[in-house]
Amino acid sequence: QVRQAQFKLVLLGESAVGKSSIVQRFVKNSFDEFRESTIGAAFLTQSIKLTGDDLGESLAPADDGFDDGLIVKFEIWDTAGQERYRSLASMYYRNAQAAVVVYDITQSESLEKAKYWIKELQKQASSNILITLVGNKLDLKEERQVSEESARLFANELGLLYFEVSAKSGENVQDLFKQIALKMPFK
Ligand code: GTP
Ligand code: MG
Repeated sequence: QVRQAQFKLVLLGESAVGKSSIVQRFVKNSFDEFRESTIGAAFLTQSIKLTGDDLGESLAPADDGFDDGLIVKFEIWDTAGQERYRSLASMYYRNAQAAVVVYDITQSESLEKAKYWIKELQKQASSNILITLVGNKLDLKEERQVSEESARLFANELGLLYFEVSAKSGENVQDLFKQIALKMPFK
């Protein structure tokens, strides 16, 4: 028998930064060049297995009748970034244990919108919510407007996890979700 756990994760960020594309890469391992903007919000789930090594149990295998792994199920709310849906967001982040706030590394104003969401989460969401700042479209490095250093510094100052990913190439997407799972308190 393998232990199981689940948690709610919400994605927030400006329209077109690639929230749905990141989820699609994680859940279906695919990418659409022409994706429709989300209406309201979308709900998806995906499970991953954390091994005993991931969990740091390698030196002390569980003797409790359980396997030394953990299946983690993500219940994902992919919100709509368009301005007209902004007031709906609180319904989705209210009960979330993790929030992924996405910006586009080629659009500096999308980082300003991400900062707005982070502020709102820190004011309104559950006080122990794990917030991760994610710069997407890493495949477009040549068009970068936000440096990795400045975004990472900002994230560190606020105690957020920070990743740069590409939904298009898949770079760092699995690792993003795995590292979030490893930070969840259910272990
Ligand atoms: P809303 O649903 O309106 O909030 O947008 P969203 O944040 O869900 O963005 P979506 O995933 O729909 O992606 C917007 C556009 O960016 C689409 O045309 C995607 O193909 C493109 N896109 C998403 N991720 C990437 C990426 O990593 N690299 C590149 N080059 N394009 C991407
Ligand atoms: Mg979307």
